[in-house]
Amino acid sequence: MKTIIEPFRIKTVEPIRMTTREERAKLIRDTHYNLFGLRSDDVLIDLLTDSGTGAMSAAQWSAVMRGDESYAGSPSFYRFEAAVQNLMPFTHIIPTHQGRAAEAILFSMFGGAGRNIPNNTHFDTTRGNIEASGAAGHDLVIEEGHDPANLHPFKGNMDLARLEAYLTEHGESVPCVMLTITNNAGGGQPVSLTNIRATAALARKFNKPFFIDGCRFAENAWFIKQREEGQQDRSITDIVRDCFAEADGMTMSAKKDAFGNIGGWLALNDDTLAETARNHLIRTEGFPTYGGLSGRDLEALAQGLTEIVDEDYLRYRIRTNSYIIDRLDALGVPVVKPAGGHAVFVDARKWLSHIPPLAYPGQSLAVALYELGGIRSCEIGTVMFGRHPDGTETPAAMDLVRLAIPRRTYTQSHADYIVEVFEELSNIRETLTGYRIVQQPELMRHFTCRFDPIAA
Ligand code: F0G
Repeated sequence: MKTIIEPFRIKTVEPIRMTTREERAKLIRDTHYNLFGLRSDDVLIDLLTDSGTGAMSAAQWSAVMRGDESYAGSPSFYRFEAAVQNLMPFTHIIPTHQGRAAEAILFSMFGGAGRNIPNNTHFDTTRGNIEASGAAGHDLVIEEGHDPANLHPFKGNMDLARLEAYLTEHGESVPCVMLTITNNAGGGQPVSLTNIRATAALARKFNKPFFIDGCRFAENAWFIKQREEGQQDRSITDIVRDCFAEADGMTMSAKKDAFGNIGGWLALNDDTLAETARNHLIRTEGFPTYGGLSGRDLEALAQGLTEIVDEDYLRYRIRTNSYIIDRLDALGVPVVKPAGGHAVFVDARKWLSHIPPLAYPGQSLAVALYELGGIRSCEIGTVMFGRHPDGTETPAAMDLVRLAIPRRTYTQSHADYIVEVFEELSNIRETLTGYRIVQQPELMRHFTCRFDPIAA
């Protein structure tokens, strides 16, 4: 059969409150054109993030009932720990309330003034934690990863030549090497197993610990199985284990590929580092057998980790994305290709080429998608990355708009509606105007900054 059906039935539903275009025009004006300021009740299709917004399974909800809320030594923790270690063979699994808390602990040990930390592309909270510690983050993804139209199968790969030059140049100031799978900020693009191993080997050669940001590890493994030579007959679980086998640790947001609404972890092999990390955890998150989570959360994650590696799920998951991307492509909307794992990325700089990067074409598209269709998306471009710690501003590498697809949450008619909104937008895109930022915080401005439209 050609049709890949959603591999689930729906048992519980959440109503969507319908709004009109006029209402939405007022609502977005009232938030100063920042989509993070909207109430989610005022959104028809919420593609702001795939983080924590997925639907839990019946098995996860029943696991929730088993949650043991003991402060120390809860059996729920041990089930969680075993589920993680079944996939990622690290010695120490330290639960946190979400991924950025794991990053904050990691960079309390590896950050600091004068230090330099490479990654294929740091996610915004990773960069935020690095910069807050006084260190600097650098993105060394392969050149193809900056070209939305390039069909390279692993556009999230680390540029190994640049990494080697970086490690040589920065020497002692580099405390560790990181790799993000999939490369969220670069279009949800995967990293090949070969590249993971080669990055690990380079880190080892320079005596640096190697950490993986594993948020979307299962989607990444699915791409490896589909696209990398020799991986076709292997199970997702085996591929996942191989991906993490050569790392010294990982950070994780369990709100992505663990089917959680909340949660994360920091994993480490080194005993001394783990002790320091656990002491930090006790001060900031909680005792090491719950780390800011309830026993119920830990149970949901343990069950989620058994479901995420299911191939029927992953086939449907990735197909949802490529279905939308294929149709947008056919409409002439420039999208990041090939389809990534968790989101559709539209090249706003190209589609709205009449709006210069410093007038934020991505923000303009995101606001228009909301006004016209009630769709909430997210600018990943100059608003998010254009401002530097010294206050200067330059265009980001790309101006993308991300439509992140929550896991197991929307159906094909939602996907068809999204495409239809783009169809309508195609007719009026030349009339969209740029924006200017009129108020912004020092770090991670995209969450709270205020915009004014630039008059046409
Ligand atoms: N790393 C990556 C690659 C991420 O995508 C995220 C979160 C984090 C770390 C931080 O995890 O949210 O649990 O603290 N990404 C979400 C997103 C927010 O929308 O892409 P967190």
